[in-house]
Amino acid sequence: MTIDAYIAGLPKVELHLHIEGSFEPALMFQIAERNGIKLPYESVGALQAAYNFSDLQSFLDLYYQGMNVLQTEQDYYDLTWAYLTKMAAQNVQHVEIFWDPQGHTERGIAFEVPLNGIRAALNEAKTRHGISHELIMSFLRHLSEEEGFATLEQALPHRDAFIGVGLDSSERGNPPEKFQRLFDRCRAEGLKLMAHAGEEGPPEYVSGAIDHLKVDRIDHGNRCMEDPALAQRVADLGICLTVCPQSNMRLKNCTDIAQHPIKPMLDMGIAACINSDDPAYFGGYMSENYQLVQDGLGLDRAALGQLARNGINGSFASAERKSEMLANLAAYETSKA
Ligand code: ADE
Ligand code: ZN
Repeated sequence: MTIDAYIAGLPKVELHLHIEGSFEPALMFQIAERNGIKLPYESVGALQAAYNFSDLQSFLDLYYQGMNVLQTEQDYYDLTWAYLTKMAAQNVQHVEIFWDPQGHTERGIAFEVPLNGIRAALNEAKTRHGISHELIMSFLRHLSEEEGFATLEQALPHRDAFIGVGLDSSERGNPPEKFQRLFDRCRAEGLKLMAHAGEEGPPEYVSGAIDHLKVDRIDHGNRCMEDPALAQRVADLGICLTVCPQSNMRLKNCTDIAQHPIKPMLDMGIAACINSDDPAYFGGYMSENYQLVQDGLGLDRAALGQLARNGINGSFASAERKSEMLANLAAYETSKA
């Protein structure tokens, strides 16, 4: 069996996926047309050609522009269903997905519209494909903490629909401390906490997310590796890092895959896992992200299995579901050894 076939069949989990970042250009054109919206691109190809990013902000500008097309529950359902269909084909067992409510409410879409559409697709995928899920509400860090509080108020009537909160968007200049009171409040609500940190921002944002926001998980976290004491702390605390290799390459946070930090992370026992972030913009889903690091870093099957295991252990699935997924993974590793 080739290593690519091994990766394709490996039972995987995805913990870092922005559902709005799974919006493929062809579907974007289709939904724009049915909503009577004219995209500022002549064709799918012209849109794809614009996906040539120099940094995080150059991507975010197009990401927010793309999601403007989404208006109805059906739109959000179609978006989420398209993603989940692909995940079923890549043998993904469990997904934890972010949505950015402020990217929708800011343009007059009711809070419930994305939530209902996304949840309907997630429930359908559980029934039809056996993919379990959790939903995570992410705050936009370029907005104020006060706006975050207002969003939390809108969300609390739907408290049971999501397991935790995240912090995403423009990292530089928006340190974790800016949201300390909001995260205190979310913790008091019993929500799981996570934040993007050390993607583009400095190692201090990773320690800030740990010390000020008291996160359960860190999204990306790459730049903690620039501070050996911090990296050791992340390893000792057992904090899961949801690493996104293709994203790192496409946003120029890593310029040489052979130097990608996922290998040193694994070597020092950091609980890092593989994820796709915004696959429609970065050129690949789960299997392609595994292939990229396998190829670029020469990871063997044991290392690929460890990445998959770190994803399961770092998930917010129930203890029972985690055991089931770990058993599926172990059975696969044994049968393909
Ligand atoms: N929102 C969507 N994708 C993101 C990323 N990679 N970093 C920060 N915010 C995001
Ligand atoms: Zn992300």
